[in-house]
Amino acid sequence: MSEEQRLEGLRAAIELSPDNHGLRLVLAEALRGAGEELEALDHLAMLADAGALPDAELIPTGQLALRHGRLQLAARCVDAARRRGIPEGVAALLRDLEDALTDDGIKQLSVDPDIEGDDRFGPKPIPPSDQATFGDVGGLTDVKQAIHRTIILPFQRPDLYERYGRRSGGGVLLYGPPGCGKTLLARATAGECGLPFLNVRIEEVLDPYIGVSEANLHAAFESARASAPCVLFLDELDAIAYARRKQQGSGARALVDQLLQELDAIGADNSDVLVLAATNAPWDVDDAPKRPGRFDRMVFVPPPDLAARERILEQRLADPPTAELDLAALATRAALFSGADVTHWVERAIDLAIDETLARGGDVPITSEHMQRALEGLTPTTLDWLSTARNYVEFANESGRFDDVLAYLETDEVKSRRRRGLRKDR
Ligand SMILES: Nc1ncnc2c1ncn2[C@@H]1O[C@H](COP(=O)(O)OP(=O)(O)O)[C@@H](O)[C@H]1O
Ligand SMILES: [Mg+2]
Repeated sequence: MSEEQRLEGLRAAIELSPDNHGLRLVLAEALRGAGEELEALDHLAMLADAGALPDAELIPTGQLALRHGRLQLAARCVDAARRRGIPEGVAALLRDLEDALTDDGIKQLSVDPDIEGDDRFGPKPIPPSDQATFGDVGGLTDVKQAIHRTIILPFQRPDLYERYGRRSGGGVLLYGPPGCGKTLLARATAGECGLPFLNVRIEEVLDPYIGVSEANLHAAFESARASAPCVLFLDELDAIAYARRKQQGSGARALVDQLLQELDAIGADNSDVLVLAATNAPWDVDDAPKRPGRFDRMVFVPPPDLAARERILEQRLADPPTAELDLAALATRAALFSGADVTHWVERAIDLAIDETLARGGDVPITSEHMQRALEGLTPTTLDWLSTARNYVEFANESGRFDDVLAYLETDEVKSRRRRGLRKDR
């Protein structure tokens, strides 16, 4: 059997058993032996994510990662080697890594980082004057209603909640396919309340060094408390759970615990920090943050329905010169498009009109013909999400948590698409 055939065989085998770590390691080693280092690194990174890199592989993987500029992976290897108490080669790898980081213009990693002072992590609040409002968000009436009930009303009318003995506090976790307005809604919530908006992307909080992610998260909440009253938005909340899964052993729960502690503190001192979070992968979010008083409301943010798409088209086409357009008819052609997809579609049509304006002179208005041409080749970017979601709600909807998704998957728009398959390439 030739080397290439062996690799092909291994690649096919791992496709069939993606969770077989031993097999993946064999494939990675075969790839490295064959000089396919980048592909080898992809598999090693997956093993590292799963906490399944054997001790003996940590340093060699770190070195290989470093050689190819994959600093994050290299840092993770250093970290794991330290935690597992593997002395050989760690110091040298760490030194090389630090050199690489400095060359990259990134500040030196420090083992015991001093997070006080200017380097301190913390989002800058965006003042209310720059905010969107619910009027800027097309459709999503139910979602706006839920946010109003859970977040805005308790803030604006605490007296009501007191008189009726209704517990206030607790955040809302928005979830759904990308590009459908979660971030926009969070900004709009701040706008509706006239409050500053703090946007924290969990990805940016994460750091391979033990303790640094927790310190970053704490700093984010501190800066929210300092700006209170304000809206604090935690985007990509699933990244916390992801970080936990890839980080086995002692430090594993630390970041989730830190989050819970911060959320509970906010609930307790009624500090006027309104918390919203968002995720594309609600099934990856731990249960603990979803308990009462924390993110006890999970709200599905679906792709815009027909009326919402019409509204988004209307918004996007309000400024440029347009011919007579039947927006309702146009909206029917964009089933399952996310808000971002609709926006992208209009931008393409505008580009076509601009091209013609440049070629012919005189302002060429956007016509339905431009819209039609701009639509060609566009597919909804929500399809992958819907297909993943379908697997989860069919197999992991024990508590009825994803009933809203289930109902959405039964709508005519989804069902008629499903006949053609939910995957993009079909
Ligand atoms: N319902 C909507 N109404 C108006 N614009 C929308 C809507 N949904 C998405 N958009 C547009 O798409 C962009 C991306 O949306 P975003 O809120 O970032 O999505 P998500 O956070 O869900 O990934 C927004 O900035 C906005 O231009
Ligand atoms: Mg977003």
